[in-house]
Amino acid sequence: MKILNTKVELVREINQLKSKGLSIGLVPTMGALHQGHLSLIGESKKRANITVASIFVNPTQFDNQEDLVNYPKPIEEDIRKLESAGCDILFNPEVEEMYKDHEVWDYEVGDLDTKLEGELRPGHYKGVTQIVYKLFKAVNPDIAFFGQKDYQQFLVISKMVKDLALHIKLQLCDIVREPDGLAMSSRNVRLNKEERDISVVLYKALEYIKQHYTELSLQELQQNAARFFEKNPLLNLEYVKICDKESLDLLQEKSPNGAIALVACFVGKVRLIDNMIIP
Ligand code: PAJ
Repeated sequence: MKILNTKVELVREINQLKSKGLSIGLVPTMGALHQGHLSLIGESKKRANITVASIFVNPTQFDNQEDLVNYPKPIEEDIRKLESAGCDILFNPEVEEMYKDHEVWDYEVGDLDTKLEGELRPGHYKGVTQIVYKLFKAVNPDIAFFGQKDYQQFLVISKMVKDLALHIKLQLCDIVREPDGLAMSSRNVRLNKEERDISVVLYKALEYIKQHYTELSLQELQQNAARFFEKNPLLNLEYVKICDKESLDLLQEKSPNGAIALVACFVGKVRLIDNMIIP
């Protein structure tokens, strides 16, 4: 695997590969890699000739400084994981490399920025679109891979690709879970034993909604799911909602197009999110 740290090196390398007619798949990450990330690498290897992963803990998308400071950065381990997954190129720039031009980023995220994660993490999607656009420009991928784990992020990036008429195909990939159902996340390593054990409640609440979807009303489903979080003082539920899959508006009535249930919850000091598509 080639490891590149600057945009100049990366663009040179990509141009060479593209001139040979090879297609490029991009997997953007913030590192602290787990099986969820590696499944995206696997998808890219199936769909593109060359797989580029990026590791960059993007400061502009953190609304919480403590979260940024505590974000894990096990780079040597990440390199080993990417190599064994068969990744071809790792782009691993420093903050100065990505932000040295001090350009203004005024892309209007729009309606999605007022809902769920957008509402609770002001500026988050502005930062995400800013860095993903920079990565798209530097890598110029044919296809880019994102996880359903961050479903709203996928919708925001899809909208940006459309708004800015970028010629990049996007692929949404399934959520990879721990054996007990907890969605894999780089933040899970910050949970202590007690917190880790209780974290499965996010998955259980989503499963509850899915299992009882046809027999209960939307209101009952959401109220009952919220009760899963009530008894443990380590849990601080931010939302558990059933929404339209495209707009992420709260669903007013059950629709033949299905729905998505989404949850965000603090477990101790660690904020976790998860979701489940209801067919
Ligand atoms: P990060 O949280 O590192 O996630 C990188 C990619 O891995 C995202 O597309 C995310 O949805 C996916 N992912 C995370 N956990 C997963 C799981 N359990 N199963 C499947 N896929 C999973 O998302 C970001 O980084 C950043 O916002 C980024 C897009 C890199 C921009 O900075």
